[in-house]
This record gives sequence, C-alpha cells and structure tokens, in this order.
Amino acid sequence: MKKTTKICCIGAGYVGGPTMSVIANQCPEIQVTVVDINQDRINQWNDEDLDKLPVYEPGLKEIIASNRNKNLFFSTEVDKAIEEADIIFISVNTPTKTYGKGKGQAADLKFIELCARNIAKVAKTDKIVVEKSTLPVRTAGAIKSILENTGNGVNFEILSNPEFLAEGTAVDDLLNADRVLIGGDDTPTGQKAKDTLSAIYEHWLPKDRILQTNVWSSELSKLVANAFLAQRVSSINSISALCERTDANVAEVARAIGYDSRIGSKFLNSSVGFGGSCFQKDILNLVYIASSFGLQEVADYWEQVIIMNDYQKRRFAENIISTLYNTVSGKKIVFYGWAFKKDTNDTRESAAIYVADALLEERAEIIVYDPKVSEKTIYADMDYLNTRTPEENRRLLKVVKDPIKATEEAHAIAILTEWDEFKTYDWDKIYNNMLKPAFVFDGRRLLDSETMTAKGFEFYKIGQS
Ligand code: UDX
Ligand code: ADP
Repeated sequence: MKKTTKICCIGAGYVGGPTMSVIANQCPEIQVTVVDINQDRINQWNDEDLDKLPVYEPGLKEIIASNRNKNLFFSTEVDKAIEEADIIFISVNTPTKTYGKGKGQAADLKFIELCARNIAKVAKTDKIVVEKSTLPVRTAGAIKSILENTGNGVNFEILSNPEFLAEGTAVDDLLNADRVLIGGDDTPTGQKAKDTLSAIYEHWLPKDRILQTNVWSSELSKLVANAFLAQRVSSINSISALCERTDANVAEVARAIGYDSRIGSKFLNSSVGFGGSCFQKDILNLVYIASSFGLQEVADYWEQVIIMNDYQKRRFAENIISTLYNTVSGKKIVFYGWAFKKDTNDTRESAAIYVADALLEERAEIIVYDPKVSEKTIYADMDYLNTRTPEENRRLLKVVKDPIKATEEAHAIAILTEWDEFKTYDWDKIYNNMLKPAFVFDGRRLLDSETMTAKGFEFYKIGQS
C-alpha cells in the first residue's frame, strides 16, 4: 500500500492555519497536522464553535468543517508531528527585533532558530523543510547549517516557499494564487524536493504558475513583492496630501493613471496608511539587509515608503485635531474600525492604533467599534505602545458593541477600516445622535461626499479638499 504523505506545519497563525487548511482540503490523500506551542490557539482551532477560530477568513470555517479531524489536525504535540512528517513547513512568527543589533529593523529569528533546533533534535528520517514564514535573505542557509550540524545524520532539504496570501482574502488567494514560488538548491536532491512540493500545489494550480528559483531569489522576492505593494500605497498617499491642498481628487488621479496598463489599477486606494504584519516589517528587513551590505542609498530609498506611511497616519490625526478647532480634549470621537483592513480580525500595525495614540495624547475620549476585533485585542494594542498606563487607556478609550448608540453626543466619527457594513448604517440617525457640527473623517474613502454633506455632516475624506 502506498504510504500516506504526511505534512506538519509548525505555527498555527494567520499564515499556517489557512494555508494548511487549503492544502488538506485540496489534497485529500495527504495528512496535514498543524502544531503550535500555544495551547489556547490550538484549542481555538479545535473549537466546536467555528465562530471561535483564532483567524477570521471568509470561506475558512467551511473548510475546517469539512476537513478537521479527517486529514487536518491541530495539535500541541510538536515533536510527534515532526517525527512523523515527510514535509515540515515552518510558519512561526518573525517579528522585528526589539533588542540588540538590528533593533527596530532586522527580523528576530529566535523562533525560527528554536524551531530548526527542535527539528534537528527530533527528526529520525529524511525531511523536506519548507520556510513559509517571511524571512530575510539567507535564512535558509542558517537553517541548513543548524540542521546539518546538530541533526541525527538524516538528510534535510531546505526549500523557501513564501506565502503571498493577503488577509481577509486568504482562502481565495490560496485557491487562485497568481503564482507559487519554490526556492531550493539546484542539486538532484534539491530538484526532487522542489518537485515534491510543486506536486502538492499542482493538485489545484496549473503548473505554469508554480515558479522554481534558487533559495535566495525566492527569499528576496517575497520582501521585494511586499515592498513594491507598500510603495504603491505610499505613492498614492503622498499624492492624497497634494490633492487635499488643491482641487484634484485622489480617486480620479488613481483612476487616470491606473488606465495605463504599465501602471495598472490595483493597489492605488489612498487610505489612512497601510498596516498589517507584513509591509512595514518586510521593508524594514529590506532596509536592514541593504544597509548591512553598505548600500545606504538603497536602504534610504525603501525607508522612505515607511516614512511616508507614518506621515499619512499622523496627518490624519492632525487634521482631526485642527478641524475640531485645535482641541480634542474631552471630545468624544468614535472610531469605526480597528482592524488593519476589512474582513480580518488582525490589528497588527493597524493605522487605528497610531491615530488613537495621537488623539489620546491630546486627551480625546475615544469610543471604538469594530465588528470583528475584541476589546481585549484593542487594549493590548494600546498597552503595547506603552505611551500611557493601562488604567489611562481604559479610562480614555472605550470599546462598544453598538455602533449607532456609540455616536450619541459624539463630536466626530473617524473611519479607520473599510468594513462594508459602515456603508449601510442609518447615517441620518447617526447625524441626529451627534453634537453639531457633526464631523466625519473618512480615512478609507468609504462614503460618498455629496450624500454625507447633504445629510448635514462636515465631511472630510482622505485625498479630497
Ligand atoms: C500583504 C500582501 O498583499 C500579501 O501578498 C503578503 O503575503 C502579505 O502582505 P496583507 O498585509 O494581508 O497582505 O494585506 P494587503 O491587502 O496587502 O493590505 C495591506 C495594507 O495596505 C492594509 O492596511 C490595506 O488597507 C492597505 N492598502 C492596500 C491601502 O491602503 N491601499 C491599497 O490600495 C491597498
Ligand atoms: P503569522 O501571521 O506569520 O502566521 P503568527 O504570529 O500569527 O504569525 O503565528 C505564529 C505562530 O507560531 C504562533 O501561534 C506561535 O505560538 C507559533 N510558534 C512560535 N514558535 C514556535 C515553536 N518553536 N513551535 C511551535 N509553534 C511556535
């Protein structure tokens, strides 16, 4: 009988969870086990109530419902899963370093290294080890050296297989990936490993969308893809500032330039600033790598993308303050949205956090409503900044469940996330609830200016005077 291929994924996060669920779903003959040292997370993945999964992604619950405990397992038994697996995906977190050399820029590879050492210790048979986490260039080399020097004499083939899914559309991005990138050695065993991984994706993707490269190209391509995407957002955001001072409208400019097929229309939505776990981290990584090779101009060039993003968040907060007659002290400002974009409960690097921080510095009172983000996460985000005490954060910022009631006696509403439901609210009722003049600051260009103005609002939209 043919042996069942077993896959293990270390790290049950925003990448590991959805990716492995889709693989299990598309490859019924493969057994997939997702492991994590975080017992709470694994419990959530195993929760009977599919609304309690740790990651919210459209389409994910359905997949979990059909595959969980059939060929998809979530467990804390890391060593057992490693031992049994033919292919091991590493999908642990690689935050920006908060200490030592490269602090604030380089990726902290502590978790990757611990993971590699654990694989080396436990593995008794040959394995293909796949880097799924986004890593600085040359990490595969480091993993290889750890595995080769401390392993039990087994052969490890290291592949880089960066994940390009975007949150909120993870399932769709995985099922209809523009491309899958597989980096590995050009040796016969390296080639065999690349083909083995490719065969998994070929279950549902055409072969010509699966690109094979060397390891370094693959690792670097992931950073560069995110840097280019983020750069587009910063580019259009820089123009939004100019539009607000002139009679140009940033949406019209984006549309006009996007019609040029060389530029393209996607990723040109001006906003309060990009967030998410990837863009800033990956650019900082690129900046660090460039400067560590003495390429200061290259480093400065990419750093500007982040400088522009910080400027955009600050500009949005400053516009609220100056429009509310230069003082927001004691004023009630309602935040619609906290997630870094719609259709996700992820708040990492969300613009909302930094806008809130700037307004709280001016003693505003903030009321937050987000359809998917918990109160616990919102306070954790604010406490993490360490700008004020946890008690102050809880006194000045409240999290509510009723978005309409939240607007009673409010001075202003700021839209921080583009949740579709905000468009369907009864804005006449909201207007009546609010103090006058009733200000709305649309950081996502979600609402129509003419309609909002006609209802009586003082309406400000990013990228429009
Ligand atoms: C990104 C990449 O898109 C994905 O390929 C990679 O694997 C991980 O990083 P993600 O961070 O999930 O994905 O979300 P994305 O849709 O790229 O949005 C990132 C941020 O940019 C969000 O805050 C979003 O609101 C913002 N954005 C995006 C804009 O402000 N304008 C746009 O036009 C597009
Ligand atoms: P991403 O967004 O890249 O998926 P997350 O932070 O959401 O990142 O998830 C990474 C997960 O990896 C976390 O749940 C963390 O507990 C887990 N993890 C980190 N180190 C290890 C390890 N050595 N073994 C198992 N799981 C780990």
